[in-house]
Amino acid sequence: MERVNIAFLGFGTVGTGAYKIICNNGDTILNSDGIRLNVVKVLVGNIHKKRSICLPEGVLTDRFEDIIEDDSIRIVAEFIGGEYPAKNYIEQCLRKGKTVVTANKEVIAKHGLYLTKLAKEHGCGLLFEASSVGAVPVIRIIRESLQANKISKIMGIINGTTNYILTKMAEEDLSFETALQQAQDLGYAEPDPTADVEGYDALYKLSILSSLAFQTQVRVEDIYREGITKISKEDIQYAKELGYAVKLAAIAKKTEDGIEARVHPTFIPEKHPLASVRDSFNAVFINGDAIGEMMFYGQGAGDMPTGSAIVSDILHACQNPCGGNFLDVVKSNSIRVTDNWKTAFFIRMTVMDKPAVLHAISGCFARHNVSLWTVVQKGSGDGHSKKTVPLIFITHEAEEREMRAALEDIANVKEVTEINCCIRVEK
Ligand code: HSE
Repeated sequence: MERVNIAFLGFGTVGTGAYKIICNNGDTILNSDGIRLNVVKVLVGNIHKKRSICLPEGVLTDRFEDIIEDDSIRIVAEFIGGEYPAKNYIEQCLRKGKTVVTANKEVIAKHGLYLTKLAKEHGCGLLFEASSVGAVPVIRIIRESLQANKISKIMGIINGTTNYILTKMAEEDLSFETALQQAQDLGYAEPDPTADVEGYDALYKLSILSSLAFQTQVRVEDIYREGITKISKEDIQYAKELGYAVKLAAIAKKTEDGIEARVHPTFIPEKHPLASVRDSFNAVFINGDAIGEMMFYGQGAGDMPTGSAIVSDILHACQNPCGGNFLDVVKSNSIRVTDNWKTAFFIRMTVMDKPAVLHAISGCFARHNVSLWTVVQKGSGDGHSKKTVPLIFITHEAEEREMRAALEDIANVKEVTEINCCIRVEK
């Protein structure tokens, strides 16, 4: 049996989950890997704060030096989250030759290439399975199981909070605000839900997954991002009527024009496997030239699922202290990331119920090369009144820039009182 001393930076939800797994499943770990993990230091802001777990005397510390200067600590697990000071702590650990395991998607998405280089220079590792899709080992799978494939597309539901909110809006007809409140009551969403509902969390994860899959850096600033705050119950009900589910999709494709990468609300056909991913579950759908289509599904968040990925990375680090530097194959800025992809669109607008309104709108679409697939008019005006009615379009595939230009023109049609929403459709 080998005893390995490890330290934690932070002791929030995921840190507590990882600690519970190490304590409760110590014998299982010993049996499978021949290792007894020993958490010797846990860095926290306030060592006197009441916690749900009581740590042995002397383990809690508020001094980072207690960890960085302790040569018996080979592996450090970081749970602080956010960019700073987490990035600085990780950097200092790597410079000291300590392998770092982290769930920090923001640091890995923004600084992963630099930190991996640093880890290699100092003969240690940087492991980050827990940073994307929680318990689902998709990072290791991309690098160690699918490495013989040319991956052409990743499409995922990689934020549990927004998936929970959209599921409740669809199945229980809740408003966005009520569903968000439920997500907060259940601890899925933070008191400030911006990172989840505005798509930042999914954006960081997509940057990591697509960089690994395409072996080229897909930078955070090159990914289009749109959250779910403007999605209404009406849009979700129309989606259902038309045979779609609305999901916050993270999509990255490698095309002849370069790479496209985007996070936005998306109509997904009900028959697509991702449409049936409900509640706070995550799933990642991958297309590779050898594997065809493959989908991974599971819990993407929470103390125990994310803790499971952390402990797995710690055990890998015990077996191979210089391993896990998965971002070492990623080249920086070698392929253009495009901002003009092609998709179909769902557009809902409110218009005066008068003759020739449809003609004026379809003219705007035509001028920008957008071809219509379906038009639905709801409501019961007499066709000559000042009453407004909802008008719904689904287009064929069109260029993003052309669609934006068409919508600008439509906004100037005087009978169009509002363009309520425009949601991309994945066919
Ligand atoms: N807040 C994230 C989610 C989990 O809801 O999926 C951590 O990335």
